[in-house]
Amino acid sequence: MEIFKSAKKLQSHCESLRLGGKRISFVPTMGYLHEGHLNLMREGKKFGDYLIISIFVNPAQFGPHEDLEKYPRDFVRDEKLASTAGVDAIFYPENEEMYPPNYQTYVTVEKVTQNLCGQSRPIHFRGVATICAKLFNIVKPHTAIFGKKDFQQLVTIQRMVNDLNMDLAVVGIDTTREDDGLAMSSRNAYLKKDERESALSLSRSLIKGKEMYDAGERNAGVIIKKLTEFIASHTSTKIDYVKICDTENLEDIDILSNKSVLALAVWVGSTRLIDNYVFGEPLNIK
Ligand code: PAF
Repeated sequence: MEIFKSAKKLQSHCESLRLGGKRISFVPTMGYLHEGHLNLMREGKKFGDYLIISIFVNPAQFGPHEDLEKYPRDFVRDEKLASTAGVDAIFYPENEEMYPPNYQTYVTVEKVTQNLCGQSRPIHFRGVATICAKLFNIVKPHTAIFGKKDFQQLVTIQRMVNDLNMDLAVVGIDTTREDDGLAMSSRNAYLKKDERESALSLSRSLIKGKEMYDAGERNAGVIIKKLTEFIASHTSTKIDYVKICDTENLEDIDILSNKSVLALAVWVGSTRLIDNYVFGEPLNIK
């Protein structure tokens, strides 16, 4: 497994791989890898002959009062885990490599970034789109793999890739969950012992939402009210949003159709968790 810290070196390595007929798959990450990331990597292996991951905690996607400084980092551990998942190369740049002095170019995806997380994290998706555009230019992947847990991120990246005619496929992979249903996230490491039970209010809300949909409920307001009350009944929770949106434009909807997503963002103590469920699809929670 090769480690690249220089964008230029990785770029020319990827150019030679492409000229040699190799297909490159790519999993961008912010590190502190967990089973969810490893699943993305295993999937990535299926889409190409050479698998690259990036590990970069991207400052541009964190707001001024967010957790950039305390975001968990452990490169030695990540390197070991990545090698078990068949990764061929890791891109592990310093901040200055990605944002040198006088850096001034950003990518804004307009509409799909406005609702949901965009309301409380106004610069987040500009940072995500920018870093992904830069990483795609460096890695030149044929396929990039993203988790569906970050549903709005996936929609945003798909929109950017289409709108800017980027020459790669973006693939979304189902959320990996702990045995008790909690969606895997590097931020779960922040949860205190007594907050863990409250954190399950998210995945349990998805089950409740699915049950209501399966029983014929199509009024978004009715489902949102029920789930809001359910989450609020757990200690240490503070709801950022409970919304039902169109899966393509991410605008709020009143009546559910066959392309509606239930999206949640909830603070549990000082940890902000997100989760989602696309109605009508299977839900992998036991
Ligand atoms: O999902 C993440 O870990 C990040 O948002 C990403 C896609 C690696 C961009 O920094």
